Amino acid sequence: MSPFRITRTLPEDAMAAALRADVQEGLTADPKSLPPKWFYDAHGSELFERITELPEYYPTRAEREILAGRAADIAAALPARTLVELGSGSSEKTRYLIGALTELDTYVPVDVSDSALTQAGQALVAERPQLRVHALIADFTAPLTLPEAPGPRLLAFLGGTIGNLLPAQRAEFLAGVRALLSPGDALLLGTDLVKDEEVLVRAYDDAAGVTAAFNKNVLNVVNRELGADFDPAAFDHVALWDAAQEWIEMRLRSRVAQTVKVPALDLAVDFAAGEELRTEVSAKFRREGVERELAAAGLHLTRWWTDSARRFALSLSMAR
Ligand code: SAH
Ligand code: TRP
Repeated sequence: MSPFRITRTLPEDAMAAALRADVQEGLTADPKSLPPKWFYDAHGSELFERITELPEYYPTRAEREILAGRAADIAAALPARTLVELGSGSSEKTRYLIGALTELDTYVPVDVSDSALTQAGQALVAERPQLRVHALIADFTAPLTLPEAPGPRLLAFLGGTIGNLLPAQRAEFLAGVRALLSPGDALLLGTDLVKDEEVLVRAYDDAAGVTAAFNKNVLNVVNRELGADFDPAAFDHVALWDAAQEWIEMRLRSRVAQTVKVPALDLAVDFAAGEELRTEVSAKFRREGVERELAAAGLHLTRWWTDSARRFALSLSMAR
């Protein structure tokens, strides 16, 4: 057997049906919204990789600093034989973990983006031929069945992606994560921290416009998959800080009054001039909140590391 396998747990027609349902619901709601997982087609995954290299987008560099410095501590705390990673993307920072986990037998990257999984998986098996890589094309917000693989298990959820879930979705997600773990297994969670508003807003509204292009890419996905006629140039990218919720909210603001047709849904969607469509939230955290949400799911926080500028945190919590 080749050391790289990729399993599609989401049949393509189920993905297409989910997109149709999400677009139908989101574009007929008031206010309008679209769920963030649809950003990540091949082009969206590429744009996200460019975001991670922007001078304004600090989370990737901050989390990499922690992983580079603490991978050995993490491996000592949990000498995992299986590493599962949700929303693994390029698996670029994960290399620090894989390098430090000397007992590692199997790596299970899970993502909705098959292009990201294929690229990352093939590169990893070339670098570490002994490692079994079993990639799953799956939606981490739905119940997940993991392949047979030896324990102990470390489940990583990096990049602050948990902040893209709304609070109720987070609670459900963490309960699902707990259900995938056995006593002695652990969750390694990356959370971006509350900080100065200006720094936060700039991270989601960069000068080069890469984040704007990423945000608008969801319109291209709906055009391609559902035959819609969104004109991305007729929308402005908006990123704002909601101080009460402590999250960044990303929106697309219609520049003019317009009607967008979505033939696959037999739908015509009216936008008023200035009307906004919510595409994503990115929640920022404090230690107490993270600890409380983990505990509510039956996960006990045992370690907390931040980067030197305290912008981002990695926590390790145990299933008991
Ligand atoms: N972990 C990487 C990538 C973060 S970007 C990093 O830290 O840089 C978020 C990743 O999660 C993307 O690769 C995206 O394709 C994936 N993703 C987003 N929503 C998802 C969902 N519902 N199910 C599975 N993967 C998802
Ligand atoms: N997980 C990333 C974050 O919340 C995703 C992200 C970064 C993102 N920039 C974005 C999502 C812009 C939508 C738009 O930081």
